[in-house]
Amino acid sequence: MDAARKHIRRERESLIRTRFTEAFGVEHPIVQGGMQWVGRAELAAAVSEAGGLGLITALTQPTPADLADEIARARDLTAKPFGVNLTILPTINPPPYDEYRQVIVDAGIKIVETAGSNPGPHLPMFHDNGIKVLHKCTSVRHAVKAQSLGVDGISIDGFECAGHPGEDDIPGLVLIPAAAKEIEIPMIASGGFADGRGLVAALALGADGINMGSRFMCTAESPIHQKVKDAIVAGNERGTELIFRTLRNTGRVASNTISREVVDILDKGGQFEDIAHLVSGKRGVKVYETGDLEAGIWWIGTAMGLIDDIPTAGELVSRIVSDAEDLIRSRLAGAIA
Ligand SMILES: Cc1cc2nc3c(=O)[nH]c(=O)nc-3n(C[C@H](O)[C@H](O)[C@H](O)COP(=O)(O)O)c2cc1C
Repeated sequence: MDAARKHIRRERESLIRTRFTEAFGVEHPIVQGGMQWVGRAELAAAVSEAGGLGLITALTQPTPADLADEIARARDLTAKPFGVNLTILPTINPPPYDEYRQVIVDAGIKIVETAGSNPGPHLPMFHDNGIKVLHKCTSVRHAVKAQSLGVDGISIDGFECAGHPGEDDIPGLVLIPAAAKEIEIPMIASGGFADGRGLVAALALGADGINMGSRFMCTAESPIHQKVKDAIVAGNERGTELIFRTLRNTGRVASNTISREVVDILDKGGQFEDIAHLVSGKRGVKVYETGDLEAGIWWIGTAMGLIDDIPTAGELVSRIVSDAEDLIRSRLAGAIA
């Protein structure tokens, strides 16, 4: 069999089956995590169309009605199942979560990724409507708590990740197997995953798949400015900054003049009021819209060091699956022989 036919045959057979693919009804154990400003219909649909699980980020949509429209747009782009990320923020003026939740239910979405805080209050309505909940968290204790609350899957996010890695600073190499000891439901891993090697490593560490943010941010369908994608390709694993450490709300972002100013102010005893003007969402979204990398803070993980191109989401998913399969069949099997 020539190489091309062999490749097609493998794609069709899609050999990697896990508790996650079975329970959540997706072809490949690859999830595109919720991403503020980035997780829109085009990207989520492209990931799902490729057999992964794409997620629309609910709070990127200014109102629940906009979320309904965004879900409809994704439905026009793929007939395959995609989900919605609902990030539960501990803010003084919370968004109307019950209205976003109602839209998700009414739209017939069957998978929700919750993150940020306790998913408990949202579970009964999701479960009553046949929606599976994948809860993303950054510590074993929070994963165990979510499991006891009855979520359907855990997404364990290591210190390498973009966004909020929590305050324990435990990288995936320890966090994933530590969680696997305690978690009996399907569990996927995130933070630093970008390729087939990462998928195999996650499986070896006890996870049932991977969730990626940074890597999917740098794909053709990701709705951000080309200059940001080029900066990710040019960047390396040292190009991130941890902000908000003193506020105990750590965030991993791209290192730029704004992130360094934020760290400087907080290190000198500053409080959130002193940096609020620097870290506003309005400034952050400008980076993605205009390509001005210094316009605000923007999220990216250490996986930046593993990202060297801008494929379509479909090419990326196929490549990860086929590289993982090759790695298992050849390098790992060969190591035993
Ligand atoms: C641009 C960007 C925005 C993100 N926004 C959110 C968000 O709103 N809610 C959330 O749960 N996670 C968010 N994340 C985290 C991702 O869902 C995912 O957990 C993380 O990126 C995994 O680590 P990785 O970047 O190393 O793949 C964001 C990540 C990125 C890169």
